[in-house]
Amino acid sequence: MDTNQIIQKIQVSGIRRFDEAITGIADIIKLTVGEPDLPTPEHVKKAGIQAIRDNWTHYSPLMGFGELQTAASQYFHQKYGLTYAPGEVIATVGATEAVATSLLTLLNPGDGVLLPTPAYTSYQPLVELAHANLIPIDTTNEGYKLTPAALQRVIAEHANDHLKVLILNYPTNPTGVTYTQAELTALLTVIKQANLYVISDEIYSELTYEQPHTAFATLYPEKTITINGLSKSHAMTGWRLGFIMAPQALINEMKKTHQYLVTSTSSITQAAGIEALTHGLDDGQKMRAVYQARRDYLVKRLSEIGLNYVYPTGAFYIFVQVPNDFNGTSWQFATRLAQEARVAVIPGSSFGAAGEGWFRISYAASQDALRDSMNRLATWRAQTAKL
Ligand SMILES: Cc1ncc(COP(=O)(O)O)c(C=O)c1O
Repeated sequence: MDTNQIIQKIQVSGIRRFDEAITGIADIIKLTVGEPDLPTPEHVKKAGIQAIRDNWTHYSPLMGFGELQTAASQYFHQKYGLTYAPGEVIATVGATEAVATSLLTLLNPGDGVLLPTPAYTSYQPLVELAHANLIPIDTTNEGYKLTPAALQRVIAEHANDHLKVLILNYPTNPTGVTYTQAELTALLTVIKQANLYVISDEIYSELTYEQPHTAFATLYPEKTITINGLSKSHAMTGWRLGFIMAPQALINEMKKTHQYLVTSTSSITQAAGIEALTHGLDDGQKMRAVYQARRDYLVKRLSEIGLNYVYPTGAFYIFVQVPNDFNGTSWQFATRLAQEARVAVIPGSSFGAAGEGWFRISYAASQDALRDSMNRLATWRAQTAKL
């Protein structure tokens, strides 16, 4: 084939591939995709329906309706103290497009991009599409958090590799860890020394269980690109609404990438977004309470079953260790678990080499599904004492 060689090498994400592979198994409980099971709040749905009735069904300005930019600017100020002007906000097609637009705008061929791993699956392919180089930083031995010492070490090792961007994602997919303000401030010293841009993907910012969320741009406004959106906080994954927020000069460049990729996100979605951001400030908190109860339940059950896990303080994922007595890869383990226990989880290797030996459970699933899956897992584990 003479199609693009980078695309030829890229695969559909391990999350989707595994999910598709096990989908035909009868009566399987899926704890795979990071898809809230809760509905979009009623008032937000109504705003979307009304938008269609009112013929809000044409192009919007490229960066989104001014009303949406203003609503986003105010919402993120109220929530996290961010001080972006409305003109420094681009409404994107989910956080996914925000990641793509940010990377494609910032990177030149050969630039180095640092990424703490295991990590969400969409960063690496986009870095490659930009002809840049991804430099993973394995955080396994440091509680799955990037430390200043590890960052410093990798920066020194790659002194000649045009290091330009550090991608942060917290609360973190797939491990559910998050950072305290003090931890972020300690990282900032190293980041500033190396003069890095930070792309901070904070799509799970409303889902922190032990501490308030600190937005990275409150510490490093001059070189942070903030990514957020309504997919997780307002259970709006299918609407496709995200945001890029950054200093004006960067936004002016990003606007061009955004235009030629997508023109704008859906006008109907934007109307729903205005409602969510202006009258739905507490929507995310109600959902957080539900997820937190589920997290507490899962942690208890997994401990009883005798599995090791990373204690999650955010998002709706829990990262669990493949039992030591299983001889095989995380993909093989997850496949057996799906076939024999009829519980579907995501193999850790989907999140990079650093995820091997682990698997991810998404607890954005109903309480019944969580209970039944843990019962199945417990029975299966007891039966297969030596795997
Ligand atoms: C860390 C992270 N960033 C971005 C996204 C994509 O979000 P969206 O659905 O808004 O495109 C996800 C979705 O799972 C995610 O986990």
